[in-house]
Amino acid sequence: MKVMPLDGRIGAEVDLDLKGPWTETPGDVEELRAAFRNFHLLLFRDPDLEAADQIRLVEALELVPDEWTNGEKFGFLSNQLEVAPNDGQHNAYLFHSDLMWKDQPINSISLYAMVLPDEPAPTIFASGVGAAASLPAELRARLDGERGLFLIDFTGGDKRYSEETASQEAPRATQSVLYDDPISGQTSLVIDSLFFDKLVGWDRGDSEALRGQLHAYLYAPANLFQHDWQVGDLVIWNNVALQHARPELPPTGERTHRRVSGTYKVGTTAWDASFRD
Ligand SMILES: [Fe+2]
Repeated sequence: MKVMPLDGRIGAEVDLDLKGPWTETPGDVEELRAAFRNFHLLLFRDPDLEAADQIRLVEALELVPDEWTNGEKFGFLSNQLEVAPNDGQHNAYLFHSDLMWKDQPINSISLYAMVLPDEPAPTIFASGVGAAASLPAELRARLDGERGLFLIDFTGGDKRYSEETASQEAPRATQSVLYDDPISGQTSLVIDSLFFDKLVGWDRGDSEALRGQLHAYLYAPANLFQHDWQVGDLVIWNNVALQHARPELPPTGERTHRRVSGTYKVGTTAWDASFRD
């Protein structure tokens, strides 16, 4: 196995045959777990990977795969596949971590690129742990002990949600905005662009001003990684340590990924496919 760090704060490419018997070699498993803890995102290139081997990778990283509503441990995200919850969608997604609006957000997401459009359709990652580590002490101190309200209300992903405009039924949760990431053991700044509404108990104007200051660190170019997909790429990332986003998809061309998400050592949390995040 070869672990090759990508440029910047996020990610490593791993040269490993995921179809082979690597999970029977404790040294390989431990090296991969360490790489996931350190780099938060691992990229594998494997042109014909079956779902079973994608699931095996997730489980080897001590994650319990989430079940989809059909009972399977994998599902599909696609703009042109009827079974995909985001079928027909081309919209951009603002930076977010999946399911932050639930009490127990998922810990990891893996996507395997099966079909891609001719034009680029990247995913962009921002490091919450990188941002938390780079904050000036004064700014970080203002976040100590604070919680944020996160919610989701409608399909899409290119418009921010707010309790001021959300329906009563909109699912919501509060989270520590300096979140203890169980995988890396580091603290992650989870104030995102999509689900975060405001700091609990704060004046909205004050919360907005601080959000703006924090986003300057979170979304600084040095804190981002853009992955330009090739068919056969498998990317697994830490959903709490990193946020992800995408620009609007090209108007034509299929983009289909196989998705396996996982909860770190904590039992299963079904991914609610009725919310397209
Ligand atoms: Fe997402």
